[in-house]
Amino acid sequence: NLLNIEKEPIRILVTGAAGNIGYAIAPMIARGLMLGPDQPMILHLLDIEPASKSLEALKMELQDSAFPLLQGVIATTNVAEACKDVNIAILIGGFARKEGMERKDVMSKNVAIYKAQASALERYASEDCKVLVVANPANTNALIFKEFAPSIPEENITCLTRLDHNRAQARLAEKLGVPVSSVKKVIIWGNHSSTQYPDTNHATVSTKTGDRPVKELVADQNWLRNEFISEVQERGAAIISARKQSSALSAASAACDHIHDWFLGTPKGTWVSMGVCSDGSYGIPTGLVYSFPVICEKGSWKIVQGLSVDEFSREKMDDSARELAEEKALAYSSLSV
Ligand code: LMR
Repeated sequence: NLLNIEKEPIRILVTGAAGNIGYAIAPMIARGLMLGPDQPMILHLLDIEPASKSLEALKMELQDSAFPLLQGVIATTNVAEACKDVNIAILIGGFARKEGMERKDVMSKNVAIYKAQASALERYASEDCKVLVVANPANTNALIFKEFAPSIPEENITCLTRLDHNRAQARLAEKLGVPVSSVKKVIIWGNHSSTQYPDTNHATVSTKTGDRPVKELVADQNWLRNEFISEVQERGAAIISARKQSSALSAASAACDHIHDWFLGTPKGTWVSMGVCSDGSYGIPTGLVYSFPVICEKGSWKIVQGLSVDEFSREKMDDSARELAEEKALAYSSLSV
């Protein structure tokens, strides 16, 4: 009910707001897709000085859209102002890799940005602030954020792998010719990178006669173990090659889904994938931000326990953990220089 806007507004920070993902996500949030149709919000849009004109234009367009739930827009290049009292922080801003740059160069730039962002939010945000890191390397940025915002509870710091989760779900639905909403319990394990492991061992499709395992419905097991996995792993790169820019609308939509389910709960009978601080579940070392299957309820998440892991999965899950440990070492080495 759009007219029932009696709730207190929630303050949502979007960094890198003048970019493509920002342009896509701002109207999704303002239309209530992130927090539901009766939750008003105030948007805090942050970007760097060279983007200040586009940022101002975004604010103008948001105002001109007369969104009933949108109770205010703060568009600023001042980090303290942007972070003030926010309840949710969606961190999209980061340093994009340019031609000729080494991975290490990008890593050191982003690590510095996420360290600064952590201090600012720790200082100015609301105590209950929940954080979603979208910018790459998302898991490692989230880890650095956690290390430099020690007063923010670590369960409030997450990174986006819902995009990969949605991609996996959509690809299976397409392959099987079923509605996307009937595909449940896919899992993305690990890093939001090409070592991520899209796992279909527990995935099901709802049919009139009950849930059926994807593994039974897909005739070609080789497809599930090879093409499917690499298509999901490489989908981000395929989008970049087709539009010469990273995915934006699907990333924005996945970020909305992530926060939506975190706050309002995962649908019954399924789970979602989120990058969270490992607690050692499934033998994944603590001290890494790793994507797990989670169930959410009223703003908290829990890793789904007790799933069987076969040898094939074990190897892939460990490969991605190993890559994250390497990224962590690289991030720390760039902090100390
Ligand atoms: C995506 O998954 O679409 C992006 O993270 C790809 C990228 O490297 O920007």
